[in-house]
Amino acid sequence: MSSAPRVPSTPPDERPKVSIPRLNEMRELGEPIAMVTAYDFPSAQVAEEAGVDIVLVGDSGAMTVLGHDTTVPVGMDEMLMLAAAVRRGLGTAFLVGDMPFGSYENSNEQAIANAQRFVKEAGCDAVKLERGGASVDRARAIVRAGIPVMGHVGLTPQTATALGGYKAQGRTGERAAQIAEDAFALQAVGCFSVVFEAVPAAVTAAIMPRMEVPVIGIGAGRSTDGQVLVFHDLLGIHTGHTARFVKRYADIHGAMVDGVSAYVADVRGGRFPEDSHTYSIDPGELRAFEDYLEQDSLAGTSPWDW
Ligand code: KIV
Repeated sequence: MSSAPRVPSTPPDERPKVSIPRLNEMRELGEPIAMVTAYDFPSAQVAEEAGVDIVLVGDSGAMTVLGHDTTVPVGMDEMLMLAAAVRRGLGTAFLVGDMPFGSYENSNEQAIANAQRFVKEAGCDAVKLERGGASVDRARAIVRAGIPVMGHVGLTPQTATALGGYKAQGRTGERAAQIAEDAFALQAVGCFSVVFEAVPAAVTAAIMPRMEVPVIGIGAGRSTDGQVLVFHDLLGIHTGHTARFVKRYADIHGAMVDGVSAYVADVRGGRFPEDSHTYSIDPGELRAFEDYLEQDSLAGTSPWDW
């Protein structure tokens, strides 16, 4: 866990809205782009207040907030509900909706229709989809329909089984070349940005000079234009295994368990609620009420007319 001092970000109301031209400018100026995932209103508010540039409603929400073992089961309706909540918590950050497994692979028409749902129903600025290959066609189709697309290469969790599991990609010359080809193809069809996940730092660094759009890394080294981490990983909201590339900045799970445990102990020990947590009543009104309760039969005798 980091003990680095908290650097105050520009207050949200003084920050211009993050746009694709602004992201390109950041890339050109060498200003690192900070991206995190978020899945609900409070996590979006936290990201906004911390000055995050890009918020991704990741399909990792399948695991972090819905409790699945992989990202595969989450569907469009669930993603849209999460994304709409995130939208309500954001002001200036650029919002990307992650197209879930099965929402874009079948046809360009399916991909466009579901990308439109992210924009129309959840207010997303852009969508993200995984892989090169057939996804390049889908990305092109969505871009042509007027919706910005972020690509995602390297470890692509929706197809992790085919990649041999959740592990680093591009560790042979041939596999590294495949990642480069996918990234070049995605930028060629108009993706405004590409995520590199779990790619050796040296491979990323070798590809970067040929990239003309902002590249956001997660486990891809320091040469990318920005970094992304999963909200629940970086804040320690969940326990259990995390990937090598995760840096934990807080132990929120521990803090939450401590807080709820203290509440449970207070309830059991009769220490909660205290007087300051209770409501009062005028003594005369209380007396009138007590007189009412003392009557032999209460049925139909209420002196108060509702
Ligand atoms: O779903 C997700 O969280 C992602 C990021 C890891 C980029 O795709």
